[in-house]
Amino acid sequence: MKTILFALPGNEILARLLAEKLDAETGEATIRRFPDGESYVRILSQVKNKKVVLVCTLHQPDEKLLPLYFLSKNAKDLRAKCTCLVAPYLAYMRQDKVFHPGEGVTSRHFARLVSGFADSLLTVDPHLHRISRLDDIYDIPTKVVHAAEPISKWIKDNVENPVLVGPDSESEQWVSEVAESTGTPFLVLEKIRRGDRDVEVSVPQLDAYRKHTPVLVDDIISTARTMIETVGHLKKAGMKAPVCVGVHAVFSGRAYRDLLASGVAGVTTCNTIPHESNAIDLSDLYVDFIAHFGKTAV
Ligand code: R5P
Repeated sequence: MKTILFALPGNEILARLLAEKLDAETGEATIRRFPDGESYVRILSQVKNKKVVLVCTLHQPDEKLLPLYFLSKNAKDLRAKCTCLVAPYLAYMRQDKVFHPGEGVTSRHFARLVSGFADSLLTVDPHLHRISRLDDIYDIPTKVVHAAEPISKWIKDNVENPVLVGPDSESEQWVSEVAESTGTPFLVLEKIRRGDRDVEVSVPQLDAYRKHTPVLVDDIISTARTMIETVGHLKKAGMKAPVCVGVHAVFSGRAYRDLLASGVAGVTTCNTIPHESNAIDLSDLYVDFIAHFGKTAV
């Protein structure tokens, strides 16, 4: 079965990179808005009997979802064999419980929506916390790839004498994996979040690590308050300027500028969301799943 990749707006670089690695074609589509704000999607390439890969990372997901839905449905109407959504950043994973009465578990609702139009999903380190597996909420085959190895390699190549720091208990899963493969010590801090931009972090005894370079590792950097708060504590404790590493460069509003100004030695992210801080390419991790998914689809 032939594979054709479509880039949703903003995902063109990744789609081209994957097409090269898979020796596959990239598809042409017109995706735009009508003057009334509705979405227009037209597939211009031949998709009949092909595996259609939709490349669309899902930060700011609300505006992306309908074009993605229409593209996938149009492809199936045009007799594509199957559609595979490559969404390196998967949205709504932090809304994994009802925090206040009247809210919904939107991770679950979002998963149902996506499962209703894509035949499979590939993503990178989704924020699995109270929901432990994507298969618990997605009704389609899912593949999760991990950034730990590429991040470890980047740290080995770029940071001298690191000590890894996870800002909260949720980060332990990533930090411990990166620490194991770099053979470096790690610390996990305690975090209390009081609001979207109100975060408090407690820092343990650091005397043993004064000569180390702290490397803060987290999955998502959104408002950057978690990292900024941690950087402040490490500075107060007399540690060297920390290096910040995030998997997903969500960076809402002026978060990136604020983080750079907080006294860090640098900020590095993986290319799951296009951003100037991207320095760790993960596209190699996607190739196998895309190449093999749908081989038996009819
Ligand atoms: C949540 O627990 C995540 O692992 C991150 O720590 C969090 O999303 C970071 O958010 P922010 O950058 O808004 O502090």
